[in-house]
Amino acid sequence: MCGIVGYIGPREACPILLKGLHRLEYRGYDSAGVALINNNGNLSVYKSKGKVADLENHINDKDISGTIGVAHTRWATHGEPNTTNAHPHYSQSGDLALIHNGIIENYKPLKQEMMNQGRTFQSETDTEVLIQFIEYIKEEQGCDLFTAVQLALKNVIGAYAIVVIDKSNPDRLIAARKGSPLVIGIGENEFYIGSDATPLIEYTNKVIYLGEEEIAMMTRKGDLQVVNLENVAQTPLVKTLEMNLSDIEKGGFPHYMLKEIFEQPDALLNSMKGRLNTEEKDVLLSAIINHRDRIMKAERVIICACGTSWHAGLIGKYIIEELTRIPVEVEYSSEFRYRNPVITDKDLVIAISQSGETADTLAAIQLAKDKGAFLYGICNVVGSSIPRATDTGSYLHIGPEIGVASTKAFTAQVTTLMLIAMAIAKEKQTISKEYFHQLVDELQSIPEKIRRILELNDKVAKYSKIFTYARNFIYLGRGYNYPIALEGALKLKEISYIHAEGYPSAEMKHGPIALIDEEMPVVVIAPAHSKYEKILSNVQEIKARKGKIISIITEGDTAIKELSDIYFEIPSTIDCFTPLLTIVPLQLISYYIAIAKGRDVDQPRNLAKSVTVE
Ligand code: AGP
Repeated sequence: MCGIVGYIGPREACPILLKGLHRLEYRGYDSAGVALINNNGNLSVYKSKGKVADLENHINDKDISGTIGVAHTRWATHGEPNTTNAHPHYSQSGDLALIHNGIIENYKPLKQEMMNQGRTFQSETDTEVLIQFIEYIKEEQGCDLFTAVQLALKNVIGAYAIVVIDKSNPDRLIAARKGSPLVIGIGENEFYIGSDATPLIEYTNKVIYLGEEEIAMMTRKGDLQVVNLENVAQTPLVKTLEMNLSDIEKGGFPHYMLKEIFEQPDALLNSMKGRLNTEEKDVLLSAIINHRDRIMKAERVIICACGTSWHAGLIGKYIIEELTRIPVEVEYSSEFRYRNPVITDKDLVIAISQSGETADTLAAIQLAKDKGAFLYGICNVVGSSIPRATDTGSYLHIGPEIGVASTKAFTAQVTTLMLIAMAIAKEKQTISKEYFHQLVDELQSIPEKIRRILELNDKVAKYSKIFTYARNFIYLGRGYNYPIALEGALKLKEISYIHAEGYPSAEMKHGPIALIDEEMPVVVIAPAHSKYEKILSNVQEIKARKGKIISIITEGDTAIKELSDIYFEIPSTIDCFTPLLTIVPLQLISYYIAIAKGRDVDQPRNLAKSVTVE
């Protein structure tokens, strides 16, 4: 969602800020803006609806001098996406400018209070209310900006990551956060700020993740002061970023999404590194080793997630139940948090989130924590909110995922869930040693099998074009591949804007079969496994109604292959690992249909990479 960049130091700020905004474009946004304290002492705010490129055109002939500034990409929440509502927002006097991620929930009474004080508002945003409120406190109390920000935030309900600049003090940048992440990059007498690390990475690898309800003041001399809302000094922990610049560039691919699909073999190897030991035939997860008793005592697992991460969770349910015999429930975080669920201290709650910032999942785990459950996070973004809010967890270790449509994070989440299931099953001895060893060996071979599937790229590109006419798609899968039907359909919807639905194959005859005619493409996920014959019957039912059959089958299959209009073959594997293979052609199908339809696959309309509002 919204993106934040800030800079103070000896260099020209504007090029750094704009480059940072480009780095954050993947998060999804609808307008952009920049504020600079110019060399002549003016505070200039430039904003524009649309892309960062539109902002760049807009400021072409403007004064963009200055060595301190803030910039923002906005994903509209309060007020439509237009230039007025875009950030940064000025205070009434025009002396202060603020950028903000998150939502100020009590902005209405605050706005009324400010209006009663004679303040006027240009925009419909909650953000403008906050900067007016900060200035009001500063003037009323006669305090400095740092204190005014603290006092204002003590009266704010909601989530925020903010950065403020003050025309009368161009040697100081103030930032604060609660609920929304903020990263401070430390250079030589300079500071960079980002809503995530991507805008900072080419300048420094020394970073501080600002903590909840912390406020930081950075000066041009290189001083950094961090306090909490009670003005108690905090000692920030300086961390070293593990990302490289190449991780956030396209590396010769036309889109991040395609790059990330192709990165999957290496991504999964990285996720398994140090965890899957093929020599010793073992699975070692530090989270489970360090919290062995608590995890082994769990009488139930509850998985909370949203979107693609929820689909990974559903596969997690199948494998955890199959291998460990512990009952598993999979919950949409947004439903779980509001429906007064039964949670006890015997529950193990697994929160899955690529970004680690999804507001609903954060709220769901907070609820589970309050009820005494043990919390395990599976996240990709290091230092994000969910890993910090959980008792333990496993990072995916796959590098940044920039494409809005999640691909490599999904397969890595599924892999991590498989490792967790295997580790618990081994400990509880719920599967035989022989089967455990077979699982270890087979999981190790999955990245290479994905590499082979990626060789289908040209075939997928060629045949996907045929389906640009379609207004609807059906995806069918059984057992471990039912969640893949859901995920395949979601991928297509997200980036091609074609309506698609996933169903368990056998459900087709309970309704969706009415939709099948000669125009309807039906994607059948049918790897060879114990229920193959059942899926074959479903395929025959589709064929009898002239549906267009696109099948994902195991090499050597003949029956479904003959009934299919188009088929894509995958190598064989153990049933529970098939989702890691069957999803790959589906990701490619979505990508190439979207490309053929001329869609913006990396930044599809209305979507955001990290959904930090509910
Ligand atoms: C994935 O393609 C989607 N963009 C979306 O469903 C995503 O998985 C969901 O918003 C959850 O995000 P998270 O994994 O960062 O929590």
